[in-house]
Amino acid sequence: MKPFKTILTASIVALSVASAVANSQPPRKEEQAVGFRQGVFQGLSWKMGQLAGAKGAGDRAAFQKHANDLSYLTDLITEGFIPDSLIEGSAAKPAVWADAAGFQAAAEKMQNMAAELSSEDYDMGSFDPRGFGREGCGGCHKDFKERN
Ligand code: HEC
Repeated sequence: MKPFKTILTASIVALSVASAVANSQPPRKEEQAVGFRQGVFQGLSWKMGQLAGAKGAGDRAAFQKHANDLSYLTDLITEGFIPDSLIEGSAAKPAVWADAAGFQAAAEKMQNMAAELSSEDYDMGSFDPRGFGREGCGGCHKDFKERN
């Protein structure tokens, strides 16, 4: 083998051993936290779609179920934002931690909006997914999430 090829082969082997070792490590707590919070947000997105669908179908029972689920998920929003978890793959802004009180307030606003939606005397006909998303979701994203 020519020296260059030998060096190349050796470094490819070294790289793949390194990545095999890296992949066998359990994810760090901070990585898990990012996965958790992004999962919560994916769930919120999904539930917003389900709510709009239930309204469209005039299905009050389904609307109630999805509103309860949405409300539950909003209680989990802040949990995954642990210290030092602004890492690669996260779209959070540093303001989440720098302005923790503001972030908490935006989460509470969302929780209150979701709680209202899940109250039994809520008029499903007045649910406006766009307005809800703009105010509750977008209101927080504006200050605390990077645009993708
Ligand atoms: C209190 C603030 C806050 C509220 C309220 C909020 N979000 Fe977010 N959202 C964030 C932040 C911060 C991120 C970035 C998380 C990360 O990547 O670490 C995010 C990320 C997301 C993502 C991307 C998830 C991924 O897989 O990367 C979606 C989708 C999303 N939010 C949807 C919603 C929807 C829908 C609502 C309203 C029902 C909502 N969010 C309410 C702060 C918020």
